[in-house]
Amino acid sequence: MKYRHLGKAGLQVSELSFGSWVTFHNQVDVGATVEMMTVAYDAGVNFFDNAEVYAFGKSEEVMGEALKRLGWRRGSYLVSTKLFWGLHDGPNERNTLNRKYLFEAIDSSLDRLDLDYVDLLYCHRADPTTPIEETVWAMHNIIERGMALYWGTSEWEAAEILSAIEIAERHHLHKPIVEQPVYNLFERHRFAPEYEPVYKNHGYGSTTWSPLASGMLTGKYQKGIPKGSRGELKGYEFLKDQLTDAERIARVAALEPLANDMGATLAQFSLAWCLQNPHVSSVLTGASRVEQVQENMQAVKFTDRFTPEVIEAIDKIFA
Ligand SMILES: NC(=O)c1ccc[n+]([C@@H]2O[C@H](COP(=O)([O-])OP(=O)(O)OC[C@H]3O[C@@H](n4cnc5c(N)ncnc54)[C@H](OP(=O)(O)O)[C@@H]3O)[C@@H](O)[C@H]2O)c1
Repeated sequence: MKYRHLGKAGLQVSELSFGSWVTFHNQVDVGATVEMMTVAYDAGVNFFDNAEVYAFGKSEEVMGEALKRLGWRRGSYLVSTKLFWGLHDGPNERNTLNRKYLFEAIDSSLDRLDLDYVDLLYCHRADPTTPIEETVWAMHNIIERGMALYWGTSEWEAAEILSAIEIAERHHLHKPIVEQPVYNLFERHRFAPEYEPVYKNHGYGSTTWSPLASGMLTGKYQKGIPKGSRGELKGYEFLKDQLTDAERIARVAALEPLANDMGATLAQFSLAWCLQNPHVSSVLTGASRVEQVQENMQAVKFTDRFTPEVIEAIDKIFA
């Protein structure tokens, strides 16, 4: 496993990281979480991603309990959480980045995780109804209180990120340092051109999500939705259209010979493709089984194998 600086920040993250969306609590209990996190950590993963909204807070509880059982030295790993959607109905508690919500929410997340601080705190979406200045000040104050060490954005528009950086610079506040965008072979067009000035001019880092498009890029949906997969889960019906889309299925089929030529599985090939982009600081992986973590961690072997010819062949498939 290699480590990359989070943009120009001093912090280094493992190029593959491990997240809990969908899986923790819904598909895996604390015991299975301990097993998967162990395999990831032993492979060199130092960054574990979470969010307040995942399994409505239960995902943070599962990770917190797993960390307690694992007993790793706190300095050896990074934990993130993300705030925005909220867990309570109330005028100030849903779909917001207001100061009151952010202070209450980080307190509760730390309780559930049973940690003194998170290493990274993300604004899970942008909130056009709260002035960016209010959010920047609140995130700065959360860091000053020692509840988070760094902060970032997720799925913000480049203009919003630039505005947050400008406000922070003007007032000498802690700036956001990292974006968490979707990035995979199907969904890459926003990541590449839109965020270019943010990486280039501001040394912003990126921790990218859904590298396998929820499992589609493993090839497991080529013959329909397999039993026990994410595509079958209650509450995630919104993913079904994509997972059964004929055009996507054809593209995955066309990718398979390229992966075979490299000696990689489709999952490893698709993860390694994300890693060969130098603007990616860490690729957030997800898994519901320990075998998947074992397979995915081997993707790092293939990062340097994307010749211009391979890239051209991929771009033709996903044009
Ligand atoms: N910021 C955001 O808005 C945002 C949004 C989404 C995710 N994220 C972060 O990104 C992380 C990863 O996202 P993701 O879970 O969507 O990643 P993904 O890699 O696209 O999908 C992971 C899922 O694919 C299946 N899978 C993974 N490896 C496999 C393998 N080798 N063989 C067969 N199936 C395999 C598993 O699902 P099944 O076994 O259940 O089929 C697994 O849970 C999340 O945990 C979260 O931390 C952030």
